[in-house]
This record gives sequence, C-alpha cells and structure tokens, in this order.
Amino acid sequence: MVEPHPRGVLFVCLGNICRSPTVEAVARAEFARAGLDVPVASCGTGDWHVGQGADARAVHAARFAGYDLSPHRARQLEAEDFSRYRMVLGMDGSNMADLRRACPEALHSRLGLFLDMTGAAPPSDLPDPYNGTDEDFEHVVVLARRGVRGLIRMLQNGTKAEP
Ligand code: 4NP
Repeated sequence: MVEPHPRGVLFVCLGNICRSPTVEAVARAEFARAGLDVPVASCGTGDWHVGQGADARAVHAARFAGYDLSPHRARQLEAEDFSRYRMVLGMDGSNMADLRRACPEALHSRLGLFLDMTGAAPPSDLPDPYNGTDEDFEHVVVLARRGVRGLIRMLQNGTKAEP
C-alpha cells in the first residue's frame, strides 16, 4: 500500500523507467540539498514495465550526473494517487491528457506539466527518450535538473523560476 503524502509531488510519464524516475531521483537529491522536506515519487500511466528497474540508459546517464536510479522499481498510476499527492506532474502533453482523463474533476488543480515549473515558454514537454540515443537520455537529466530548480523555487516562494 502507498501511504498518503499530503505535501508530496508525484512525477508521471508513460513507462516509469526513463523520465519520471530520473526526475524523481534528481528532485530527491536537490530537495534535500535545498533543505526542502517534500516527499517525491514517480509512476507511469502504462503497465508494461511494472516491477522493473529503470532503463539501463537512464541509470547510466543519471549516474554520470551524480544521481542514483538503482533502487527504482516501476509502478503504474493508481486512482488514489490524485488524492495522495499535493501535485501530480506529467512529463509531456500526452501524459497530461491521460492524467486529465483519469483525475477526478475536483482534483484537476493538482495536475501540472513538469517543465512549466521553470516558467519556460511552451512547448515545455520533456521528450520521451525511449526510442532515442544516449544523448537523448543525457538531455533528460539536463531538463530534469532545470525543472527541479524551478520546482524548488516554486515550492519555496510560490513563484515560477525564470527560464
Ligand atoms: P518513459 O519512457 O515514459 O520516460 O519511462 C518510456 C518507456 C517505455 C515505453 C515508452 C516510453 N514503452 O513503450 O515501453
């Protein structure tokens, strides 16, 4: 059973083996560094990889940047996640469409697009690297750090960061 996390942030992608686990690991490390006591977690809208570790290419790119994805195990989004977490952030527009369909109307204010937290001009999708190159996985880490910086600023003072 997943405990409720009233202050927590849930990151959501499609498979929960590339993008959202990377963002989760970056957020956990950077929140701790910033002294921010906010629980983080991740999941996928799809069920293909449930129980598996993160993609080896994501593990490698994260490790190179100083983040550890090895404890990760993929899980699928559950209906209860929308009431468990204060924020549920999708990685791209397709994730957002899935989240809006699954989320009760009354909780839609908890949904957001992760890179929107940077205050960057749209499009602010975090691109899916699954069928891409090692460079695409490295780019995910770069964007994850940028988004997490914006999220920290938003959580600390309620404003979006400059791009
Ligand atoms: P993620 O990447 O959503 O960033 O974890 C993907 C992982 C697996 C698949 C698609 C995207 N897949 O089709 O299995």
